[in-house]
Amino acid sequence: MKKNILSMLDIAEEIEEIIDLGIKMKHEVKAGKHYDALQGKTLAMIFDRQSTRTRVSFEVGMTLLGGHAIFLTGGEMGIGQRESPEDIAYVLSRYVDAIVYRPINTSHLQELAAHATVPVINGLDREEHPCQILADLMTIKEKKGRLEGLTFTFIGDGDDNLAHSYLLGCTLTGMNVTVVSPKKYWPNEYYTTRSKDIACKKNHTVTITEDINTIAQTDVIATDTHVSFWFDHERQQRRMDLSSYMVTSEIIKKAKPDVIFMHCMPMYYGEEVAKDVAHGQNSVVIDEAENRLWVQIALLIMLLREHPSEKMQEKNL
Ligand code: CP
Repeated sequence: MKKNILSMLDIAEEIEEIIDLGIKMKHEVKAGKHYDALQGKTLAMIFDRQSTRTRVSFEVGMTLLGGHAIFLTGGEMGIGQRESPEDIAYVLSRYVDAIVYRPINTSHLQELAAHATVPVINGLDREEHPCQILADLMTIKEKKGRLEGLTFTFIGDGDDNLAHSYLLGCTLTGMNVTVVSPKKYWPNEYYTTRSKDIACKKNHTVTITEDINTIAQTDVIATDTHVSFWFDHERQQRRMDLSSYMVTSEIIKKAKPDVIFMHCMPMYYGEEVAKDVAHGQNSVVIDEAENRLWVQIALLIMLLREHPSEKMQEKNL
């Protein structure tokens, strides 16, 4: 049965396994071990929008493990204009083994995923960015040695795809989560409710607040652009509304001394983050970007094998 990864909830059971495999692959490939786990596999990568990290990390990951990736743009394919996502799904499923899609319209992603007979991975849509959050959780585990019991704080636009996926991913892995944002930009109620349900079962907390002084006990601070693609028409208003939610060195000093700073990139200095924080001693943003590669390799291995655990053992993965 094929599995789509549109939300963190789609990998709720497998998150820790994917992260641990990503860490293992990173160490072993860097030590010179050769893997051909994706030999003969082809990944179609469709982008309606610009990308550096998502596109390159998926393509390099496929190549590293003996597979192949094809870069396509939604514009060239005419998704939803020249041809329906449904028909594209039927056809691509006969050519390739998996599809990554970064849509402008989430409905196109959902339609593609519903009709493809191969796994479809969300490469970032309006609501979520699961591949990024997997890489971030891997990075936190590398830096802190664990996830369970840590406190994670997102500062900025809370109604952002990153904030939504953090709410799910961090609670699913046993972290306490705080989103600090002006009320106008609080997360979509669906994500707040789902993450509070998950946290409640694990005896952890989810806090949504306007108060930036609530970060004293935090282990991780993350942010994202204040003006994501879907809100470009609100640029000036958002810059004003969110101007006091920039992550500065003063904010970093209020957290734990060993707090790490995360950003999925691209970063906009002087808006959501000050440049001295973005590349300062607490920042892990470049490791975070690198880990897109390793954790997505782990995700692809999981998706493209019928029985991941057995086959991982067979191949000593
Ligand atoms: N963080 C991220 O998804 O980067 P790109 O937009 O460059 O893919």
